Amino acid sequence: MNLADHIRDIPDFPKPGIVFKDITPVLADPAALDAAVQGLADWARPLEIDVVIGAEARGFLLGPAIARELGAGFVLARKPGKLPHETIRAEYELEYGTDSLELHTDAVSRGHRVLVHDDLLATGGTAAALASLVEQAGGVVAGCAFLIELAFLAGRERLAGADIHALVRYD
Ligand code: PRP
Ligand code: ADE
Repeated sequence: MNLADHIRDIPDFPKPGIVFKDITPVLADPAALDAAVQGLADWARPLEIDVVIGAEARGFLLGPAIARELGAGFVLARKPGKLPHETIRAEYELEYGTDSLELHTDAVSRGHRVLVHDDLLATGGTAAALASLVEQAGGVVAGCAFLIELAFLAGRERLAGADIHALVRYD
């Protein structure tokens, strides 16, 4: 299975100059969807993950399936004002804007080993915000797993010291 064959380039979306990596063909194809979930879960299995954290919105697509493969739970990092219970917050920058993410204060237990997950690592702002939320909650970032890494944006550098894996890398 070559997952890259199921990722579509959309030029100038959502802004001129951005080449958007559209993963909807991965999700629509049963074999590609399975390869994406299994590939990330297989990489994370030795990390002994207690909980997977995914970023709204595209981190919610594969995250729960990866968590189930690992026998782990899944927790949501959502855009501000969406989570109903008490929250903590982390600000972050995007390739094309700024935003913040919130996590329920009780979503990650102290000392739990957390897999940071998103569909795509670009500048690393979102993933660094997820890592910050995990650490604020007292959890341990055991690894960071992405379907796609835009390596030319050097997002890895924002996750210094973390164990990072992506199934498809663009240099
Ligand atoms: C995209 C993507 C990642 C993030 C990666 O989300 O799904 O979450 O950007 O970029 P970064 O590494 O530069 O932070 P987006 O903010 O477009 O939101 P969406 O998932 O709601 O579409
Ligand atoms: N998130 C940040 N940059 C992106 C890109 N180029 N394609 C899809 N999602 C993104």
